[in-house]
Amino acid sequence: MAESLDPGALAAAAQKARKAARDAARKAETTEKDAGEKANILPPWEQEAEGITLVDTHAHIDGEDFDVDREEMLARAKQAGVVAVVTFGDTMEASARVVKLAASHENVFGGVGVHPENAFPLTQADEDSLASWTKAKNIVAIGEIGLDYYWEKDEEKRKLQRKMFARQLALARDLDLPVCIHDREAHGDLMSILKTEGRKNRGVIHCFSGSWEMAKELLKLGWYIGVDGPLTYKNAAKLPEIVQKMPADRLLVETDCPYLSPLPYRGKRNEPAYVRVTAECAAKIRGESLVNFAEQTTKNACEIYGLNF
Ligand code: NI
Repeated sequence: MAESLDPGALAAAAQKARKAARDAARKAETTEKDAGEKANILPPWEQEAEGITLVDTHAHIDGEDFDVDREEMLARAKQAGVVAVVTFGDTMEASARVVKLAASHENVFGGVGVHPENAFPLTQADEDSLASWTKAKNIVAIGEIGLDYYWEKDEEKRKLQRKMFARQLALARDLDLPVCIHDREAHGDLMSILKTEGRKNRGVIHCFSGSWEMAKELLKLGWYIGVDGPLTYKNAAKLPEIVQKMPADRLLVETDCPYLSPLPYRGKRNEPAYVRVTAECAAKIRGESLVNFAEQTTKNACEIYGLNF
């Protein structure tokens, strides 16, 4: 590691580069190919929401993507039947913003943590900040933490990710809080950490991208699994089958907004109301009504994150 450079500045620069890459990828996704599916579909907030109680269990609503319409966006979510949003920090700065958002909104809950793409050597002061933030109103988890080998190819930096992940898992154990885990192309190392240091942690593997075999192992270890927009994509691969086979009491739905919009909103900014689109897709795959599916997944969210609303 370049010790001479300020780790915070490095992390901020890396985050900026990552955001630019993601924004470019998002814009490049043509919405044209999905145009046929747009016909006759009302946005979720214009549809009947009677009896629907959904939770968007993984969002990032602290960022500048939502600076223009944050309150309206939350109102739209409510109209769509989304009764609560769990939003996660991915840097120290974002985590601080999450604390403020959760404190000022009854139906917004939060997690604080540092995402693997922004990995830097956590200081004791950083850990102390994270720990103290978890005492704030509506802060319910440590996250988003984990491993990302898709964006990070450098072995030294992957090692740093593992170190930081292990430290934040330990922090969550000390605080007796659930964690929300990001895993992209790091399944092997993730499983080995969860079976060793993480054996006594609990929480969610969000935006699940593994196999059914991996899902079964995670279920055995007590983990919950979150699915989002990609479930609705034509190239969803093994995800629909996993959603179909999942035990009802371990499944969660989420947006990961502003990224990963479900069809037919792919390529546009995602927002919590769209969790309903993914939930509808999942309910259909499982042969359940949206009302029942929403009720069950919301119960799961309340159980793992201890939500009160
Ligand atoms: Ni996320």
